[in-house]
Amino acid sequence: MEPQVSLRTLTTDDLSAVLTLELAEGQDKFVAPNEYTLAEAYLASTTGEFVPRVYGIFLDDAVVGLIAIAHQPAENEGDEPFYEMYRFMVDRRHQRRGIGRRALEQAIALLRTKPLGPGSHVATSFVPGNDIAKALYLQLGFRETGELDGDEIVAVMPL
Ligand SMILES: CC(C)(COP(=O)(O)OP(=O)(O)OC[C@H]1O[C@@H](n2cnc3c(N)ncnc32)[C@H](O)[C@@H]1OP(=O)(O)O)[C@@H](O)C(=O)NCCC(=O)NCCS
Repeated sequence: MEPQVSLRTLTTDDLSAVLTLELAEGQDKFVAPNEYTLAEAYLASTTGEFVPRVYGIFLDDAVVGLIAIAHQPAENEGDEPFYEMYRFMVDRRHQRRGIGRRALEQAIALLRTKPLGPGSHVATSFVPGNDIAKALYLQLGFRETGELDGDEIVAVMPL
């Protein structure tokens, strides 16, 4: 049977395995380390800056990557809250096998259920030159807004 890709909320039992995941050479300029993502999610949830959810990308029962989403409060009066997909990686040993695409499709399906409350759209961003991530996001329905988040290109998709 073909291995199944699924997203599962990470638990403390997964921590050691998540911390063994590795990027390929040169990819560390595209995404923050997983240690940073986990620490940031803890801090954001204790301060209420945003509501994070960090999902493991599982291949059968093995964690092979990570996707982090956030529910962001409205930025200005009259705006709606929105979702952000702010971290996405697949371990270098499992890349180029269709896992990233399937995980992203599942994350988008999950976001359409508005799991953390109302949200008008999902935003993501990528470093200029990250052509693999860019192509994947655009193929799955994101559109560039022309804005930058720091030095990253912002893309959004209505929910
Ligand atoms: C982006 C990333 C998550 C994709 O994961 P993945 O499991 O390798 O993705 P897939 O196997 O589903 O491939 C998706 C597409 O990218 C292409 N691709 C993936 N890696 C590639 C590579 N090294 N070179 C060329 N094309 C590549 C695949 O061919 C596929 O295209 P296709 O469906 O048109 O054939 C992974 O490359 C990664 O972790 N990169 C480093 C972190 C990063 O950049 N994250 C995104 C931050 S915005």
